[in-house]
Amino acid sequence: MNSIDIFLGTDIIEVKRIKTSISAIGQRFVNRIFTSDEQNYCLSKRRPEIHFAGRFAAKESVMKALISSGYNKSISFKTIEIKPSKNGSPEVNLGLLFEGKIKLSISHTENYAIASAIYLK
Ligand SMILES: CC(C)(COP(=O)(O)OP(=O)(O)OC[C@H]1O[C@@H](n2cnc3c(N)ncnc32)[C@H](O)[C@@H]1OP(=O)(O)O)[C@@H](O)C(=O)NCCC(=O)NCCS
Repeated sequence: MNSIDIFLGTDIIEVKRIKTSISAIGQRFVNRIFTSDEQNYCLSKRRPEIHFAGRFAAKESVMKALISSGYNKSISFKTIEIKPSKNGSPEVNLGLLFEGKIKLSISHTENYAIASAIYLK
């Protein structure tokens, strides 16, 4: 029988931190972290910084799950793309070679965003 290894990653971030980076560094910061589809999605929302923060936390949680599995190559933020599925739940589009699949959950308030990733290998 094949066995599955499970690796977890979690990240929490203050929405204010993302808002400050966007104000201070501007589009250069946004372009370094988020794909154009992610940018369009977040900018379509009433408070884009909340959704940018959720995606930032999601990317870091995916990085943690991969690193905890022993993955040891560098991972850029844009390699990990977060897409909403039809019902709004987040899906991961990973632009690197890996085996298995990753499941993700995001939540946010006005002030904080949190995400958890599960890597099933
Ligand atoms: C899907 C649902 C659970 C999301 O709850 P929420 O409190 O608004 O979500 P949070 O603010 O904590 O998190 C938002 C994130 O959840 C994720 N999300 C959205 N829809 C989702 C879904 N169907 N499944 C899983 N995750 C979902 C997204 O990543 C979203 O982030 P984004 O807006 O940046 O893309 C909620 O909208 C829902 O449908 N609840 C069902 C219960 C219900 O209908 N209650 C009303 C009658 S009592």
